[in-house]
Amino acid sequence: MKTSIDLGHELPLKKAVERTKYQEQALENGRKIIKPKEDLIKGEIEIFTDHDLEVGYEKASVLYKIAFPFMCFMMILGVLQTLFYLALGKKKAVKERRLPKNPGLFWSGLSSSCKRIREHVATHRALDVVYFFEKIIPTLKGLDKWVSVFWLKRVMINTKAVRNRLKLVHKALLQQVIDYSQETGKKEINLLSVACGSAPAVFEVAKKFQQNGIRLSVTLLDLDEEALEYCANMADEIGIQVTLVNASTRSLSDYFRREQFDIVEMVGFLDYRNHDQSMVLLTNIRNLLKKCGRLLTANIVWNSEVPFMNFVVSWPMNYKKPVTLAAIGKAAGFRETKVIVEPIGIHAVAICKK
Ligand SMILES: C[S@@+](CC[C@H](N)C(=O)[O-])C[C@H]1O[C@@H](n2cnc3c(N)ncnc32)[C@H](O)[C@@H]1O
Repeated sequence: MKTSIDLGHELPLKKAVERTKYQEQALENGRKIIKPKEDLIKGEIEIFTDHDLEVGYEKASVLYKIAFPFMCFMMILGVLQTLFYLALGKKKAVKERRLPKNPGLFWSGLSSSCKRIREHVATHRALDVVYFFEKIIPTLKGLDKWVSVFWLKRVMINTKAVRNRLKLVHKALLQQVIDYSQETGKKEINLLSVACGSAPAVFEVAKKFQQNGIRLSVTLLDLDEEALEYCANMADEIGIQVTLVNASTRSLSDYFRREQFDIVEMVGFLDYRNHDQSMVLLTNIRNLLKKCGRLLTANIVWNSEVPFMNFVVSWPMNYKKPVTLAAIGKAAGFRETKVIVEPIGIHAVAICKK
């Protein structure tokens, strides 16, 4: 499916223009936000689903439908538990999802992998369990193995979709490096990964270009020192040089000079930012990009497993439609924004050109 949407007639444009006003106001208040020109918001955006068979995307299985009533039951237990804790006045524990694992008995209660995910939600430690689950399987035994494989490999659509996202980001990033090099004639490319985590797609791409004519200089930024340590070891293992930056996305503009990078990758981060925060962040990233530079980013889309993610896995996120992600890219001042959705429809990857 390939959809071309004229932003001029869509609700998100309204939002985009409203946010532009918001940005003007922020500028007046002395914050470092560059107002995107309105003529950049006009024009076409492209949204399509990638069905490339060669990528080896995973698909939702019939087991998901069979298990769904049981997942709803677990979810209801989770809702009841939340209400119980709210009634006890434990608002903070509820907000921070620090609840005992009762409703997750058949999930994190019986599977060490699911338990690790639940204990480390929103970090690379949780994501790595999902990304590299195939490598973990041989280390599991008995019921633990059975339950882990059942949920993480056979049933849950969010785990399959996040692995699809990794494959899609890898493919798109590789393509963007090649396209950008051809468009600009540059053979040295500065790549920044924001909120890098374990940066699996960036490492795969960097590995490929080691034997290629393009020299990729990689900078990895994350707030979590442990994630950067992991990346340092990974870089040693592969034999590539990386610059590690332990900083917050909030200090991006202070940390880097303007127009420093050719390509910026930021995946698995807008999922935790609302519309306004995403707009500000993308505007700041646009300022770090050189002329014709590209941002590759992503956002999770609302899906039927969200209540399970919220109340059993305890991993709440900020869901956005692909069209909203595109509108944010446009409103942040990018000349062109293309959104590619992985086949299950849960992760949208945006390629924004400056
Ligand atoms: C869900 S992980 C995504 C990791 C990786 N990009 C990926 O796609 O696999 C989110 C990452 O954002 C980092 N993070 C959270 N808040 C941050 C902030 N304010 N500034 C920089 N990094 C942050 C976390 O430490 C974590 O590594």
